[in-house]
Amino acid sequence: MWYTITRSDHLPLNGTLALRHHGWRVLLVRTAEGVFALEDKCPHQEQTMGGGLVEGHTISCPWHSVTVDLRTGVILKDMGFLGMPPMRVFQVREENGAILVDLPEGPPPPPPPLADD
Ligand code: FES
Repeated sequence: MWYTITRSDHLPLNGTLALRHHGWRVLLVRTAEGVFALEDKCPHQEQTMGGGLVEGHTISCPWHSVTVDLRTGVILKDMGFLGMPPMRVFQVREENGAILVDLPEGPPPPPPPLADD
């Protein structure tokens, strides 16, 4: 379902915006290629990717520098951390000065149980 989640002028070029909407953590990124929207959970430790380094169509996590392709959510640099899932990518569009994101119906799935150590 499409939701208007912020104004276009709140997201500068090469900027990020991390927000919550209907229970989803959403990361918006504007590059020269356009606006991208992903679930805002770093594949490493589910930290926010907000404030990460944006280069071309990639973002690097501000915590440990895992790098993801904004177009696909695929991990490009894993920094040696293994077994990480790709980031979930949402459809996004701009209309009349607003950014709209297509979020799934219902709340996000609960996190997986913690592994036994
Ligand atoms: S939390 Fe993002 S790289 Fe570690």
